[in-house]
Amino acid sequence: MHIILLGAPGTGKGTQSKIISKEYKIQQISTGDILRKNIESKNKIGKKIYNILKNGELVSDNIVCDLLYKEIKKEQYIKGFLLDGFPRTIEQAKYISSLNIKIDFIFELIVPDELIFKRISGRRIHVQSGRTYHINFNPPKEQGKDDITKEPLVIREDDTIESIKNRLENYKENHKKLNEYYLKEKKLKKLKFFQLDGTKKPDIIYNKIEKIIASKN
Ligand code: AP5
Repeated sequence: MHIILLGAPGTGKGTQSKIISKEYKIQQISTGDILRKNIESKNKIGKKIYNILKNGELVSDNIVCDLLYKEIKKEQYIKGFLLDGFPRTIEQAKYISSLNIKIDFIFELIVPDELIFKRISGRRIHVQSGRTYHINFNPPKEQGKDDITKEPLVIREDDTIESIKNRLENYKENHKKLNEYYLKEKKLKKLKFFQLDGTKKPDIIYNKIEKIIASKN
């Protein structure tokens, strides 16, 4: 099965991806994580994109599509994958269509801006595992520490007010075209595209996704 999760920053793409990939045993591909790994390893691409991510701008389509292509060719995605954070532009959407991979479901999470700011500004992450917490909505058992390893939680470098504003702006700039593209594909019955209320609790959102998949498969 191939699934795409769309949504502005902080709408819960990462949170839902982790639940879906566990339940359906398909692996998550987060382009944000791939880009951050390149930054951590301080390679050529990493150096080039460090400031782009920090400032909440979009990395060029060429770089992201190349990195995605290298990733999806790996053996571990033979049973399918869940794309988290890709596509973000119409060019990226056309790119994934050009690969002739049958996309079964596209879910878009919708959350108002005020809540997005609250969610991102309270997010804390455990870098090594990718586990995500929120100081109010999903607090760790012990303040500032990962539930499993007890290692310290950190704030993501791009979770600043300025960067959130830029990320939201970039999302809105591309959203209309991307939406039109997928609504058209839906009309042609090429794929199943659903917009979901992302303000509900994670398990409620997941239940909705699960029901849709069960009824449309
Ligand atoms: P990326 O890492 O994908 O960041 P993002 O899109 O800004 O999304 P976030 O990770 O901030 O949010 P999320 O929707 O995953 O929410 P989460 O589940 O964590 O990308 C980073 C950067 O990389 C981009 O800015 C760009 O520069 C670059 N990039 C990546 N992909 C690219 C592409 N395709 N093209 C070009 N550039 C690209 O939840 C957020 C918080 O809310 C957490 O604390 C969580 O606990 C909480 N929460 C989640 N769901 C709920 C809920 N239902 N109720 C209450 N709290 C919730």
